[in-house]
Amino acid sequence: MKSIYFKFVVTYTIIIAVGFLIFGTVLNNLTENYFVSQKQTQLVGEAEKIATGLALWYITGFLEQDRLRFEIRFLRDYLNASILLINKNANVILNSDEQVYIDDLNLRKIRDKVFEGEIAVKKLLIGDMIKREYLVIGYPVVINNHVVSGLLLITSTDEIRQTLKMYNRIIWLITLFEVLVVLIITYALTQRIITPIKKLAQASRKIAEGDFSQKIPIPNNSDDEISELISSFNYMTEKLENLEMMRKSFISNVSHELRSPLTSIRGFVEGILDKTIPDDKRDFYLTLVKEEVIKLNNLINQLLELSRLEWGKINLNLSEFKIYSVIAEELIKFEKRIEEKEIDVTLQVDEELVVKADRDLISRVVHNLLDNAIKYNKVGGKIYIYSEVVNGKAYITIQDTGVGIPEKLQKLIWERFYKVDESRSLENGVGLGLSIVKEIIKLHKQNIWVESEEGVGSKFTFTLDLK
Ligand SMILES: Nc1ncnc2c1ncn2[C@@H]1O[C@H](COP(=O)(O)OP(=O)(O)OP(=O)(O)O)[C@@H](O)[C@H]1O
Ligand SMILES: [Mg+2]
Repeated sequence: MKSIYFKFVVTYTIIIAVGFLIFGTVLNNLTENYFVSQKQTQLVGEAEKIATGLALWYITGFLEQDRLRFEIRFLRDYLNASILLINKNANVILNSDEQVYIDDLNLRKIRDKVFEGEIAVKKLLIGDMIKREYLVIGYPVVINNHVVSGLLLITSTDEIRQTLKMYNRIIWLITLFEVLVVLIITYALTQRIITPIKKLAQASRKIAEGDFSQKIPIPNNSDDEISELISSFNYMTEKLENLEMMRKSFISNVSHELRSPLTSIRGFVEGILDKTIPDDKRDFYLTLVKEEVIKLNNLINQLLELSRLEWGKINLNLSEFKIYSVIAEELIKFEKRIEEKEIDVTLQVDEELVVKADRDLISRVVHNLLDNAIKYNKVGGKIYIYSEVVNGKAYITIQDTGVGIPEKLQKLIWERFYKVDESRSLENGVGLGLSIVKEIIKLHKQNIWVESEEGVGSKFTFTLDLK
């Protein structure tokens, strides 16, 4: 399985292994060089002592051969090196061991150097069957400035190799341990990442299938990116759930609003056709049909407008105009209804107040607000329209003395098709007016709000930019 865990473990293991490989190789070389040079210095020092002591005394006859042998064997054990004396012809004249496999060619090479009065240091592969590396030190034995013999110290470098091998083993053990630790830590870490990701994947699939009830619990005591992702995801599902609910209720609302006028139209038309409606009542019922058709037309226009506004397909056609003139124009359109309902309108808007906005859209706002202020007003009620300028913004208020809106429903009136009281909308509102108003104000990046008291009246205020 190519899981995140697998990828992490492979990557970390490679990093650690390569790291330790480099570290091990460098360490190996350094220690080898160090040990070899240490041994070399030690042997050269000892060779000098022997060449100017024991060997010299033996050659000058101060020391008997047996005595020398005894001393040399003792030294061999102490130095862990074979000790040889050779003559000018490269013949071994004394050997601390029974045999040392050093070939003649090399022996002669060392002899040449030593009899020139120099110290020879060589690494040689010595052995009968299995060749091993040896360190050979050649030291001249000098009498009266003449080299009379060569002293050879030969030691195996195996000891150093063994030490290095041990080091290597330790390094590999540490590497293995590190990998194990990495395995455990990455497991714990990736589980923290993988588990929520798997849950997210599952939940996404369910959401795609239409189940919006998905909620993923946020892991305890964590405020990392994963928790952030989960909470964003939960927020998204919540929004989607709301949206889905809105979509469903929108469809059912639209169907409902379309069906009632259509049912009436159908009833009237059928009545006319099958003569249930007498001929002299025909015009009356056709007028009703016409009203229902107008209502349908209005509804469809409002829906179209709302959808255009919501899809952001409308480009604001900004201009500077007097807000007073817009309000006056709209008031004239309602003149008849205002008179019928005996409403008293007070207009206190600054006639010179110029705002910058989309004139047609703002007319719609004023139109819808006035429509509501009349529709939900009492007979003989009042409407009060006024303007204010605060902090470089125009505040336009339309206040009525109508039925008012209960406090807890004030948030809902902006939603599509929302009507406070279905039975109250005798005047055939569908509940889209304020949604359109809200969208237009939103498009202008302005604000609108309501203050209202049931039975007393409502006050809608919106803001606009000055020119
Ligand atoms: N001035 C007001 N006074 C009292 N209630 C109001 C007022 N304005 C709006 N409302 C309430 O808010 C609801 C939503 O208003 P909105 O203008 O969106 O719809 P509508 O007037 O019913 O229908 P439409 O405007 O689409 O013809 C109304 O049904 C009404 O209950
Ligand atoms: Mg309305």
